[in-house]
Amino acid sequence: MRKPIIAGNWKLHKTVKESIDLVTLLKRQVSEFGQAEIIICPVYTALASVAEVLLGSEIQLGAQDLYWEEKGAFTGQVSAPLVKEAGASFVIIGHSERRQFFHDTDETVNKKIKAALKWDLTPIVCVGELLAEREANKTMQVVEKQVKGAFEGLSREDLQKLTVAYEPVWAIGTGKVATPEQAQEMHAFIRKQIYKLFGSDTAEGLRILYGGSVKPDNIVGLMQKPDIDGALVGGASLEAQAFTDIIRGAVLARTVPSSAKGR
Ligand code: PGA
Repeated sequence: MRKPIIAGNWKLHKTVKESIDLVTLLKRQVSEFGQAEIIICPVYTALASVAEVLLGSEIQLGAQDLYWEEKGAFTGQVSAPLVKEAGASFVIIGHSERRQFFHDTDETVNKKIKAALKWDLTPIVCVGELLAEREANKTMQVVEKQVKGAFEGLSREDLQKLTVAYEPVWAIGTGKVATPEQAQEMHAFIRKQIYKLFGSDTAEGLRILYGGSVKPDNIVGLMQKPDIDGALVGGASLEAQAFTDIIRGAVLARTVPSSAKGR
């Protein structure tokens, strides 16, 4: 059984003070959800302060990106050891906003994953197609290329340490969530690619999160699908009640027998 992960990607939102306030609230609200792993990813400048608030809590901390070099003349970059020092144990890599606006490619995603693994950070590796690619029936082709590129040169052991997020770009921040069927189809496809590249144990153990307009009212349907192991949540993770409701929905979808499901 793959333990669900619900990760909140706060993107470029919240000051340090606002981050502390939100995480203080969340810490209180989510203490009852031991059946899911909960991760929050604030901006770099809030990592260390949020880590302090999270001491002794079940909630884990992630960064939203990193640079693959450890140090040097790379103005403006933040490296894996720095993210680690600030208290993060996860890192989002290859988010579509990084690919679209900051020129991340499959090759740089691959370097970032390797840097993260070297420093014992768990990468959450994002893949997903644009609307035009889906409409041109290229979804699988695009995602297959992203998966192969991201995991080039990695071992089975490496794969066992990371998490994948399938995030169709057309669903991110648009309110247009993928249907559970659309998401399941792609999750199963990604698992199949991992099976081909790294074997069945690795594929079976890999947790694949869905991301793109996840809300309290659509999480249950998504989590009822066999290959959906959690969610990467943007907008709805900025508000304690909505994020808590998503976690509750995810846990519920996993623990209630299927005959009683269908809320
Ligand atoms: P969204 O973002 O939930 O606001 O659509 C998801 C993401 O970008 O990870």
